[in-house]
Amino acid sequence: MMFRSQIVGCGAYLPERIVTNEELATRLDTSDAWIRQRTGIGQRRIAADGELTSDLAYHAARQALERAGMNGNDLDLLVLATATPDETFPATAVKVQARLGMTRGAAFDVQAVCSGFIFALAVADNALRLGQARTALVIGAETFSRILDWQDRGTCVLFGDGAGALLLNAVSESGPMQRGILSTHLHSDGRQHDILYVDGGPSSTRETGYLRMQGREVFRQAVHHLSSVVDEALAANGLAPSDIDWLVPHQANTRIIEAVGRKLGLDAEKTVLTIERHANTSAASIPLALDEAVRDGRIRPGHIVLMEALGGGLTWGASIARW
Ligand code: ACO
Repeated sequence: MMFRSQIVGCGAYLPERIVTNEELATRLDTSDAWIRQRTGIGQRRIAADGELTSDLAYHAARQALERAGMNGNDLDLLVLATATPDETFPATAVKVQARLGMTRGAAFDVQAVCSGFIFALAVADNALRLGQARTALVIGAETFSRILDWQDRGTCVLFGDGAGALLLNAVSESGPMQRGILSTHLHSDGRQHDILYVDGGPSSTRETGYLRMQGREVFRQAVHHLSSVVDEALAANGLAPSDIDWLVPHQANTRIIEAVGRKLGLDAEKTVLTIERHANTSAASIPLALDEAVRDGRIRPGHIVLMEALGGGLTWGASIARW
């Protein structure tokens, strides 16, 4: 029997501390106007000292489980997307697994930087479709504040910390309600390493390192690859842009999001934007945006939701779901 992954809950968590553009401008040669105009970012959340990626992930996961009336032991798969794990090993996912009281199945991390949530969603969706697991939690959680060079105004103003989670249940593919994850589409191009990477790691410098980026080149490639993967996702499902109820993009830059939307002829009012308040939270940005739009009633059962992301690697991907 074949299954489909139905969405049964979502959750989110943001650290308490808000850092505004104005606050950054007191210690860096930058301004609120520059940051807003180039990126759409107005503020970001920054994790407290000692608050780890696993803490953010745990809170988002708990919320998703509680809203679905479930607990950790209902899960048999936990896939956590992060580029900022608590430790080099073990996976941050197993720390979250233990805290949730999940004692069966498997938990592991997926590393695709800003595309991590789409990659983790694809892994979980495939496992559910094949009957390898029945209930899966997909988490995107990041503390990018820990890998930023706070002297580099070209990068440190762009990112924030946060976590979001999506709970999936396997249902029979032949059921009457064709709701759930319709398809996932993944890509990467390792030749583009140098335009976005962290200059450290356990096997190279033995230090964590800092994020380095050629912003213009990332921007250019993002618009190109995101447009093409969104076309691919629409075609795979026989959908037109006008069929999309909500575009929930990775929140890297308002100008990238708008450029992709324009290329596709998508209605700008159908885009869920959180970047002004959250900045770029890497793998957490899509589930954070999903959670917000579900809670405020924009995304409703039956809606067609298009998700897309691009990140370091390069990696990029898209997914379409019927909520
Ligand atoms: N405040 C003020 N001035 C700044 C700042 C800042 N925070 N940062 C850079 N500048 C200056 C530069 O020094 C440069 O000055 P110069 O002309 O005197 O040399 C000038 O602004 C222009 O710099 P550019 O880097 O060319 O600016 P650009 O218009 O390309 O905008 C940005 C930079 C916002 C990073 C843009 O390239 C971008 O958004 N790229 C996409 C990258 C991205 O979103 N990455 C996120 C990770 S990947 C992902 O999630 C998709």
